[in-house]
Amino acid sequence: MDFYIDTANLEDIKKYNALGVVDGVTTNPSLIAKEGVSLEKRIKEIVEVVNGPISTEVIATDAEGMLEEARKYASWHKNIVVKIPMTVEGMKALKVLSKEGIKVNVTLIFSAGQALIAAKNGAAYVSPFVGRLDDISEDGMALVHEITTIYGNYDFDTKIIVASVRHPRHVVEAAMMGADIATIPSDIMDKLFKHPLTDKGVAAFLADWEKVKNLQ
Ligand code: E4P
Repeated sequence: MDFYIDTANLEDIKKYNALGVVDGVTTNPSLIAKEGVSLEKRIKEIVEVVNGPISTEVIATDAEGMLEEARKYASWHKNIVVKIPMTVEGMKALKVLSKEGIKVNVTLIFSAGQALIAAKNGAAYVSPFVGRLDDISEDGMALVHEITTIYGNYDFDTKIIVASVRHPRHVVEAAMMGADIATIPSDIMDKLFKHPLTDKGVAAFLADWEKVKNLQ
């Protein structure tokens, strides 16, 4: 299973990349806005740090506009994956881009039917937003289970990126379901490393070692 980092913060990307847990990066307009930098500048910085797929989202809402942005993003670097929303216009653009060999991550997936349409149209990735479904009292991981089953039934090549991750359990459940990728915000990366019993265990071992370290 691959881990992507779900941020446009360069320091966080460098930090977790150095820890060996960054196979790719996902960004969206909100994450770029948080950083207060231009999209082009930040994406070009990210591709220098991470050697893996970097999702960059279109802003246009019409297929022609999406195609123009997608081709521009793809020209920046070979690892750019263009993120396109799951809309009718998005699917029109996806059909063209997949024929051109530009990889597309279809974002804002909230149903298995949407994931099926995206796969049929040649999406390289789909991003079901599990946390946003949980937020409205639906079951985000149940959606991932449906998509993994459907893609397995028909051998689609489309990869599943579990997105809108809110806690480490989402990542563990995604792995148990065989999702290809989880895209993980920095604070959840931190939580994945930690367990209070690990910290307690280290402290107890050090305290005991203090008692005997000078013995011959
Ligand atoms: C990643 O591809 C998504 O844009 C991101 O995970 C959305 O997360 P959010 O629901 O926390 O905004």
